[in-house]
Amino acid sequence: MFAILLAKVNVWMDAIFFILWIATASAMVLHFFVGMPKGRFRKKWIEWKWPDHDHRAPFLPKLMHWVHLACMIALAASGLYIRFPTYAGWRTPMRYIHYVAMTIVLLNLFWRIWYAFFAKDRDWKKFAVGRRDMQSMGGVAMYYAYLSNSKPHVAEYNVMQKLTYLVFLGLMLLQGFTGLALLTQPILFGYSPREVLVGWWLGAMLGDVAIAGAWIRVVHYAINWLFIIITTVHFYLALNEDLLISLDFFGFKRYPDHLIEEAKAKAHAEHGDHGEHGAPVLAAEAE
Ligand code: HEM
Ligand code: HEM
Repeated sequence: MFAILLAKVNVWMDAIFFILWIATASAMVLHFFVGMPKGRFRKKWIEWKWPDHDHRAPFLPKLMHWVHLACMIALAASGLYIRFPTYAGWRTPMRYIHYVAMTIVLLNLFWRIWYAFFAKDRDWKKFAVGRRDMQSMGGVAMYYAYLSNSKPHVAEYNVMQKLTYLVFLGLMLLQGFTGLALLTQPILFGYSPREVLVGWWLGAMLGDVAIAGAWIRVVHYAINWLFIIITTVHFYLALNEDLLISLDFFGFKRYPDHLIEEAKAKAHAEHGDHGEHGAPVLAAEAE
């Protein structure tokens, strides 16, 4: 009974998430093409006018993002292989890839959190969502939906970016937790990570540690798809909304110095300060 239910849940999840992913990717393609009659495509890709930036990201967040990205690709690919073992014989290497990448990604995540709060260039404030960010939400959504031509600019990251990054963080912590709870080897003083993390509460609730583990696997698998879907949107927006700073962020092409200087001068002239946090609520970034 339980095995049948679980098998059904897995197959339903495969179908629903795959359709959701295709729908998301199609929405991004549509969004790109709507930019043509709306003039955004011409402005960015032909006239080469991209949003202004008055700073660049330092080296370490860029490095950590690279490591993170490489691990996420390895984790999604090896994880999906574990779910759909298409080529017999790859199972053991794929599991090892998952184990190595999960160790690196978790260390990298804790490093990033430490950096955000304790490094010399600590940047947690860039991700904090305040009242002014929330007020700008409608305007940002209208801009992305092509219902308005100006994007509210209240901080370096707009509110949707901030929320996405916080969702990434939450999902990462949850994925780490559920992933570790899939380990059944008795490596912790005779207990397995599964028993330590979920055995005593979920296992007790469901009556069996193995059943708890099976449901934890369902959650881990669902989050796998959430990552794939959100990353598809993040990837599209990084390239199509802000190509120049994205190339800089990946270390491919430095964001030009003169544009940084111009953006600083513009912010100073408009707000009498250094832009970013001093900009008045909903000051518009001209389209
Ligand atoms: C963050 C740290 C992570 C840990 C500790 C972790 C751990 C694990 C473990 C132990 C397994 C079971 C492997 C086996 O059966 O031998 C697994 C399976 C899996 N992982 Fe992860 N993982 C992590 C991140 C991720 C990420 C980021 C993704 C996707 C983007 C992912 C996708 C998957 C998938 C799809 C499976 C197969 C689930 C199934 O059998 O239905 N994992 N993970
Ligand atoms: C698929 C390719 C990806 C591209 C092209 C990309 C692009 C970018 C860019 C350009 C930024 C910096 C924005 C700025 O500073 O203006 C950024 C930041 C960020 N990205 Fe990605 N990204 C990708 C994958 C991912 C993945 C897989 C995740 C997480 C699962 C992720 C999480 C983040 C986070 C948390 C930030 C915030 C800034 C930071 O970490 O320092 N990205 N991304």
